[in-house]
Amino acid sequence: MKMLYDTKQMALFEGGNPEYEYKELINKRHNFPDAVEMLSKIDYDFKDFTTQYLTHTFHSYPARFIPQIPLTFIKLFTEEQEIVLDPFCGCGTTLVESFLNNRKSIGNDFNPLATLISKVKTTLIEDTQFRYFNRKLAVMKRYLDLDYRRVNEKINNLPNRKISAIFSKTVISKLEAIRETLLEVKEEGYDELFDFGRVALSSTIWSLVENDGGIDVDDLFVKKVKSMEKELSKTAKIVEKNPEVRVICGDARKLEVQSDSIDLVVTSPPYVNALDYYRVHMYNMLWLGMDFDLFRKHEIGGHSHFITNRFRLLSEYLGDMLRSMIEMNRVLKKDKLCVIVVGNSSVEYELIESHIFFEEMGDKIGFTPIKTIFRNIDKTKKYTSADVGKIDEEYIVVMRKEKNSDVVANDDDFVSEVVRNQMIRFREQIKNVQGTSIRGRKPTRERLLKNIDKISEAIETIPKDTKIKR
Ligand SMILES: C[S@@+](CC[C@H](N)C(=O)[O-])C[C@H]1O[C@@H](n2cnc3c(N)ncnc32)[C@H](O)[C@@H]1O
Repeated sequence: MKMLYDTKQMALFEGGNPEYEYKELINKRHNFPDAVEMLSKIDYDFKDFTTQYLTHTFHSYPARFIPQIPLTFIKLFTEEQEIVLDPFCGCGTTLVESFLNNRKSIGNDFNPLATLISKVKTTLIEDTQFRYFNRKLAVMKRYLDLDYRRVNEKINNLPNRKISAIFSKTVISKLEAIRETLLEVKEEGYDELFDFGRVALSSTIWSLVENDGGIDVDDLFVKKVKSMEKELSKTAKIVEKNPEVRVICGDARKLEVQSDSIDLVVTSPPYVNALDYYRVHMYNMLWLGMDFDLFRKHEIGGHSHFITNRFRLLSEYLGDMLRSMIEMNRVLKKDKLCVIVVGNSSVEYELIESHIFFEEMGDKIGFTPIKTIFRNIDKTKKYTSADVGKIDEEYIVVMRKEKNSDVVANDDDFVSEVVRNQMIRFREQIKNVQGTSIRGRKPTRERLLKNIDKISEAIETIPKDTKIKR
């Protein structure tokens, strides 16, 4: 029997662990009906499975999915060298699993930090280059004294809030020394090492912010480089054929991907009203010289606008997701699968069951439903914002491309019409029962009834709210 992992990979999972049966199951070759049948035999909670291994360990990323989700569909529904696409690839979980399993892959995300991490996780680097890099870091270690020239210029560009607590002058000076070393690496022609180092730097900044300072940044950075180097060299031993990986920093509503070229789409899109990635990654992006303002403008699911009527966020989100799904349909080959992983969210105490909206959309744009799978999430692993709280369950919507969509993603009238019907249906639901997602303090009945008017108002502005902002 062919194993999911060869003997070298199996060493990662020694000791009669619960993953063995799962791996046996997904490793068998199946025709399409059998593969669909297999989907019912898997326990999607993946309780106690190893989820952090190899390059998955490179960088933290909010709301990433566990590798076993893309892995399941990659193994059951694609052959080696076929192409897997994740249009919201985040930190590249789908790409890493495709890479490890000899599938070509394309990852797209508007967040430049996400595409940098994705690229670095799937780019092998020669040992000789690491020897050069380690020599460079040893030299850097000798020049880490507080340097006010470095600090003064940087300090003016930082948002004020956390500077004094986290970004002390010593910390800023050291981070700048690391950044300068990385720039030298680039100037000396080592582009891949430059990106590799930037991910290590970003991961260091992430730990700094998460821990509210109190970290020896240069030490942490060097440790991070060493551990990433180790995981990358383990990966190199596994990935013998080095399948092609293309990473695009772009908009999922307008994919730069050829029509009818993809063998599997597997993705977890942003949730409505849940998390502003640009805010989460602001410090990292600032240090890496990335334009977080551009990303903020195009981010789907963010909630820093429409403050007075949050239901407008919902119609905007539905429009964005419909356009993205039309694009997924366009790029997929006929009969291939589109797998979308999404959890419920909440707007003004009302439950938003995104998977139901997506299923309805799929039906209108050339997809047929295969099945929707419910799964519990390990509560410690996935989070969104304080507004929504921890999301502890999610759905895997599995659809098949039956035909090309009759409409294109920039058909504003179509988008507006579908969203309008969905919002009207949603309003009817809320008329019957309100407060479907109350967490914490209970609102008054009057407050909840106001939601019906707010939804009606939001329905009026759908044509405007669902237009892509430029
Ligand atoms: C739930 S996360 C994906 C996480 C990913 N599955 C992983 O494992 O890392 C959603 C992603 O959508 C991205 N995103 C938001 N708006 C986008 C847009 N307009 N086009 C492409 N990606 C976008 C965010 O940057 C974020 O990385």
